Amino acid sequence: MGARRSSGVDRVRYNPLVKTKALILSLLLFLLASSHSQQTLQWFPSTDLMTIGVYYYPEAWPESQWPRDVANIKKMGLEFVHMGEFAWTFMEPEEGKLNLEWLDRVVDLSAKQGLKVILCTPSATPPVWLVRQHPEVLMVDARGRRMEHGSRSQACWSQERYREYVGKIVTALAQRYGKNPAVWGWQLDNELSHYDRRFCYCDACQVKFRTWLRQKYGSIENLNRDWGNAFWSQMYQNFGQIRIPNQEELVATVNPHAQLDFQRWFAAEAADYIRFQTGLLRKDTRNQWITTNYMHMHGDVDPSLSRRDLDVMTWTHYPVHGEMGPGTLGFRLGDGAAQSYYHDYMRPMNGLQGIMELQPGQVNWGEVNPQPLPGAIHMWLMRAFAGGARLVCTYRYRQPLFGSELYHHGLVGTDGVTPSVGGREYTQAMEDMKLLRKNYRPGAAMPAAYAARRSAILYNPDNRWDIDIHKQATRWDTMGHVLKYYRGLKSLGAPVDVINEDRLFSTYAFLIAPAYQLVDQELVAKWTRYAQEGGHLVLTARTGQKDRRGQLYEMPWAGMIRDLIGARIPSYDLLPGSLTGKVQSKGKTYEWGSWADHLEPAQGTSVLATYADQFYAGTAAAVTRKLGRGSVTYVGVDTLQGDLERDILRSVFQAANVAVQNFPDQFLVDWRDGFWVATNFTSVPQTAPLSAQSKILTGTREVPPGGVTIWMEP
Ligand code: GAL
Ligand code: ZN
Repeated sequence: MGARRSSGVDRVRYNPLVKTKALILSLLLFLLASSHSQQTLQWFPSTDLMTIGVYYYPEAWPESQWPRDVANIKKMGLEFVHMGEFAWTFMEPEEGKLNLEWLDRVVDLSAKQGLKVILCTPSATPPVWLVRQHPEVLMVDARGRRMEHGSRSQACWSQERYREYVGKIVTALAQRYGKNPAVWGWQLDNELSHYDRRFCYCDACQVKFRTWLRQKYGSIENLNRDWGNAFWSQMYQNFGQIRIPNQEELVATVNPHAQLDFQRWFAAEAADYIRFQTGLLRKDTRNQWITTNYMHMHGDVDPSLSRRDLDVMTWTHYPVHGEMGPGTLGFRLGDGAAQSYYHDYMRPMNGLQGIMELQPGQVNWGEVNPQPLPGAIHMWLMRAFAGGARLVCTYRYRQPLFGSELYHHGLVGTDGVTPSVGGREYTQAMEDMKLLRKNYRPGAAMPAAYAARRSAILYNPDNRWDIDIHKQATRWDTMGHVLKYYRGLKSLGAPVDVINEDRLFSTYAFLIAPAYQLVDQELVAKWTRYAQEGGHLVLTARTGQKDRRGQLYEMPWAGMIRDLIGARIPSYDLLPGSLTGKVQSKGKTYEWGSWADHLEPAQGTSVLATYADQFYAGTAAAVTRKLGRGSVTYVGVDTLQGDLERDILRSVFQAANVAVQNFPDQFLVDWRDGFWVATNFTSVPQTAPLSAQSKILTGTREVPPGGVTIWMEP
């Protein structure tokens, strides 16, 4: 995402050099990719399938217990240990005075046990001496309050002074461990964010944001135009007058274009900080991989901006923390589709993906912290396998006896030795992995019927940011909307990649672009070509309303996609409170509440669903048309359950003559590396789609809630 693409004003001009440059570039990319894949083989041999490990915080336990703990981690069957996160004050107790001997010893102990080590940069937890000496490194919240020492993530990564200190400790760690074969990889920082404080508004951030704007716009006139500053007399005379848009400083609502740019800047700045740390690590490390642990569904940072800086894309996931979840047992099982989506989102970024923190048991930070259903933790691990994860790690080995997370379960209980329910389920998952490794046949090809359903969801965080600035309906849930289509695809048994616009669309038989509010001509042309060449495109509610600046087009509503979808969208409706509207398709009735585009199909476009009540009963809600060798479908309504979305996807697949499954929502079945994996996140038993020849490796034909069945076909 960048200045140029988002302003929507630049066009690439023809240049004969471009071809040669493109050739050289693809050669370079090829060389880069092949050296990366060799390293990948070293780090993550395909025969290992997936490896499992755990966080350990030696600095919080007596050294006399380290040998026992590390030995027990190994005995549990785990294969790696993660440490050094949050340990800055132990690594550098006084400015410039390093104390790393303790870390040397525990790295050694781990290596002797045959455990691989992931080390972390401790930048999420600056020591108190640093912030007392340089209080300006502490972030400033929206109300202008400087944050304090006493918790974590309180520093501002845009502060040069902070980067200077982070740089020193990262370099010291890299120089000391960068060539140590016991150290397998690195994690940067922790869940890069300021949690509920969200953004920093300190002076350094203000200056960096302005600099970014100056680079993006060149002149203040351009910025005034793209931010629509003619509205409410917001015209700026120079960049120095601009402050980060901050509702706490504003009487009426924030400028949406300024807010959109700010979110772009924030994500770009977080990526810049990641690049700062990876740059330092790469100077002094050899053959060690680097990741950072993103948060599940967290929207303020953009992992795709760092997919070339990081070797492995990892994330943190806590499925059970007091949310009701789908079904009566949902509060103990979590949302399987939401987990699965994130695997499918992170995996295509650079091919290597995993979960860095997967919940080990009860947590401490939900409003209510129920126990996961027995078996659920094991199921999450196997879902990670099915989703292509190459590693899964859990926070944490020992349940803490002090500190703000002391109700948080670990793999062992408060006595430090007895495996918890989660501990036993991690061991069980590792045993499953060993069984799968034995049965693994390299190079197994994806079954044809499954491959025929290959689908992609197109995602650009710009849309999420822009929609969330102007939701227009309290019930509208941007990620929930995306997930309705994802769940629909999974119920058809489709393998899914979540991709961004620069990917090759034609790899996929089906491409869904949910609520794609911001478009430009290039994208519409790319969609059109995709369908003409045989792809099946599905666009959904809110798509095509605005340009990349977040301004409406000066044309009929959503005019940019009118020809493509073969329909006009003269209006839309939204319902207040808990009112619901009805929509019908093929004799079935569905309910909607948040968004309803009204469609006027052109000739040659057929209607798939119509509104069944309100003053516009009979108006089209979803349409489809053939285009070239493919098809284009537009679904303008967002239903409460996502059931119409699922049924329409089914009809799109059927019209394309692609055979589908009919799995209930939250019963997920995937193929990976020769194995079929069924995980049951529903609250009732489900039947695994076995054939007469299936060879079950683990589990049973009837998969209980929280259960897993894995099988092979001859
Ligand atoms: C994660 C965080 C961990 C720990 C954990 C508790 O979000 O990265 O450090 O706080 O939550 O569940
Ligand atoms: Zn700041």
